[in-house]
This record gives sequence, C-alpha cells and structure tokens, in this order.
Amino acid sequence: MESLNKIIDESKQGEALHLATEPTTGKKLFLESYGCQMNFSDSEIVASILINKGFTTTQNYEEADVIFVNTCAIRENAEQKVRNRLNDFKRVKQKNPKAVVGVLGCMAERLKAQFLEQEKLVDIVVGPDAYRDLPNLIEEAEDGRKAINVILSKEETYADLTPVRLGGNGVTAFISITRGCDNMCSFCVVPFTRGRERSRDPETIVKEAHDLFEQGYREVTLLGQNVDSYLWSGGGLKKEVLSDEQKANAINFAQLLEKVALVHPDLRVRFSTSHPKDMTDEVLHTMAKYENICNYIHLPVQSGNTRVLELMNRGYSRQWYLERMAAIRTIIPDCGISTDIITGFCSETEEEHQDTLSLMELVQYDFAFMFMYSERPKTLAERKYKDDIAEDVKKRRLTEVVNLQQKNSALRTKAAVGKVHRVLVEGPSKKSEDMLMGRNSQNTVVVFPKAYFKKGDYVNVRVESCTSTTLIGNAI
Ligand code: 5AD
Ligand code: SF4
Repeated sequence: MESLNKIIDESKQGEALHLATEPTTGKKLFLESYGCQMNFSDSEIVASILINKGFTTTQNYEEADVIFVNTCAIRENAEQKVRNRLNDFKRVKQKNPKAVVGVLGCMAERLKAQFLEQEKLVDIVVGPDAYRDLPNLIEEAEDGRKAINVILSKEETYADLTPVRLGGNGVTAFISITRGCDNMCSFCVVPFTRGRERSRDPETIVKEAHDLFEQGYREVTLLGQNVDSYLWSGGGLKKEVLSDEQKANAINFAQLLEKVALVHPDLRVRFSTSHPKDMTDEVLHTMAKYENICNYIHLPVQSGNTRVLELMNRGYSRQWYLERMAAIRTIIPDCGISTDIITGFCSETEEEHQDTLSLMELVQYDFAFMFMYSERPKTLAERKYKDDIAEDVKKRRLTEVVNLQQKNSALRTKAAVGKVHRVLVEGPSKKSEDMLMGRNSQNTVVVFPKAYFKKGDYVNVRVESCTSTTLIGNAI
C-alpha cells in the first residue's frame, strides 16, 4: 500500500468542491473531501454521477440539500477531523430536517453501519466502490430510511465515467489508473477500506488524458496506491489468474506511462505512488526517454531499518531501497525524490530510528511527508504487535526527522539556484497577484513575476533565490 495524501495542498483539505452548472432538479450538493489525491479524484466521480442526475454544486453547506463528506481513515487524527466537521452539519439538519448528510470513502468503509448508530445525524454511508448507487441511496434517505452501501468490488474502476473537474486550476488533473491495494503493509488500513487492487483499461486512461489536453489541461497525474503494480490484460482479468503468456502480453505500468506520454509532447505526465519493491528500471528508462514525463518520484521508505521494514511487511530491505535510489540517480540524474516516513512504529529502538535519519542523510530527499505511527483497527500491526512506543518518544523522533528534512529540503532548493527551470504555470502565487506559481519537472514550486504569462504556459525561469520549499526567479 501506499497512500497518496501528499501533494494535496494542506490548505485544500476539507475544501468544498464547487462547479456552477445550469440547475435542472434544483437540488444542491455540498461535497467536502479529506485525505489523499485518490479521494479528491473520487469526489470528481461522485460529482459526475450526481450532476448527471441534475444536481448542482454549492460551496455553502447551509443551503445544500445533500451534504457529503469524503473521508480518510489513514490515521486517528484524520478521523477526528471528520467527526468534528459532522457536528457543524448538525445545525443544517436542525434548520432543514430534509437535508441529507452522507459519509463517503474510507471512514465509511471502516465503520459501516456503526456510523449510522453512533452519529445520529448521518443518513447515508457509502464505501469507495459504491458511488454508482448514490442516486438510489439519496432517494432512500429522502424517504426517511437510513441508506448504506459499503460493498467492495473486485472490478469497479469507474472507467466509463468522465470525472467533473472540481475546484481545480484548469491546468493539472488527476487520472486514476488503479483502485485498491493488495500489499498489506502492517500499519495500513487502506487494503480494508479500498479493497483489492484492480487496474483500469488503458484505452480509457489514454482517452481521458487526450480529452483533458483538448480542454486546455497541460499536466496529468496518474494515480494508484501502487502504480508500479498496474497490469492490464484484455478483459481486465486479475493478475493471479493470468497465464505466463497472458502476463507477457499484458500492459504494465512502464507501457501505460509511454502511451500517456505520447498523447502530446506538451502534456506533462506525473504519477503517484511508486513502491520500492515494484519500481522497475523499465519505468525509469521510460521516464528518461520522454521529455514530458516529469523527473519526479514519490518513493515512500517508511523506515530506514530492515528489521522495522520487515515488521511493516514492506517487502524490501534498507539495502534494496538504497539500490533503487542508486538506479534513479543513474538513469535520471536530476530526478526530484520525495518519501513518506513513520516514526515510532511498534518496537522501534533508538538505533533503528537513527537508521531512518542516516538513510535520509544518504538520500537527501527533496520533500518528505512525516507521521507518528497511529494504530489502526484490523491492521496486521494492530493484531500482531504492541503499539509500545510512548507518545512523547514518537513525537521527539518525528521532530528529529522533520528537522533533518528541513535541512535537506533547503540544501536541495539551494542547489537549484542559478539554473534555468521549465515551469508549467498553474496560476497566481498565494502571496501576490503580481506573481505566478508553477512547478518545475522535479515538482518544486517556482514563483516569478507575472508579466504577460498566463496559466497553462510553459515558461523558462532562471532561479535567483529560494526558501526551503520554493524557488524564486525571473522568466528568461
Ligand atoms: N500511522 C501513521 N502513518 C501512516 N501511514 C499509513 N498508515 C499509517 C499509520 N497507521 C502513512 C504512510 C503512508 C502515508 C500516506 O501515510 O507513511 O505512506
Ligand atoms: Fe486516501 Fe483512504 Fe488512504 Fe485516506 S485512508 S489516504 S482516503 S486511501
């Protein structure tokens, strides 16, 4: 498993998605998303299904007929955020008892009917594979019945649905290529909330990329819990049932990446998340071959110690991970690399924590997403190991990891100063309307004076200064 809650801008967490369309039923949908990119991408499917049924969207939940929260279950605090939010919606129900409140996504899947019992104001509970059923469930709830569908599917990929691009910048978009996860990392709840891994028909992926380009989009991010395990064979058969011959003829991730890169040289391609045990040199060579595949890899390490990695059931050792890093540096010398790290996993010793720090020193990540271990019900770790690292120790180790990463990020951005970077403009910078922001190939944010440039343009920017996370420069 990997999860993908990086890159979703923290400020966007919980942001309502909004799209103005012509009213047809007059019913208004308020849709708020938490968690990973996959969840935000799913919300675009949900919106597509309901807009097709005549709904319009609103950013004001107080005027909504249907309030949906697409939830995350990855850590305890993610769930707490949603519980607090549900209290805000209580007021709407008091004013408008007909309003329907629904919980979607991973937390719905994890808690199932328990949600309806515990949270009296919730009318609908829907897991990530049941969104096609939403119109029926809403009808049931409007008739006063509690409605639930948390059935996980082995086939559903929503391949035929065109996501409604919500709240975006019109330049960058997500395309989901796989759903679910078969990895069973011992700390992770995702295999339980998102079910078995399945790959989506490559033709529908390429078509979606093509249509986005035609609409003016200039960057797509291919999404999956573990993109490297993407495999498509004819009728969408599962990997386990494929013969060796069928496997040899199937389309793997490197081949899919190439197909998407060929859509147009001006369409940038990114992907997330890679898995160290599955990332092949073939993928790296494909990245090197195509200018428009961005030189950026998110490769979660979780821990720098082999014993801890074994307990985490990650399927690789410290040595293996470092060898993958060496392959990236050799094949794509200027690749941006980021990671995920967990501190204080069950029984992690001080020395083992030091191994994580020393690995970070060796790799020098551009960015990292760092977390304290949070025990999740039903996971392998919850069943097999004791969550025995004291909270203050987890926290202190996290601080050490965060401080080291800040130092490394600053080193990485400093190394980019003085060079020219090709930047895809995403829009105005947060701090000033006179400045534009975009990203370089390595996924680092670059800001520069607006002049006559606009979003969607590619601009060569000479970087003159930096902070630990942002490059600042001038167009040349
Ligand atoms: N506790 C802390 N962090 C976790 N992650 C996943 N599960 C847990 C957990 N139980 C982190 C991993 C993953 C990222 C998205 O979230 O680092 O890669
Ligand atoms: Fe995404 Fe679900 Fe993982 Fe949260 S728990 S990060 S919503 S896959």
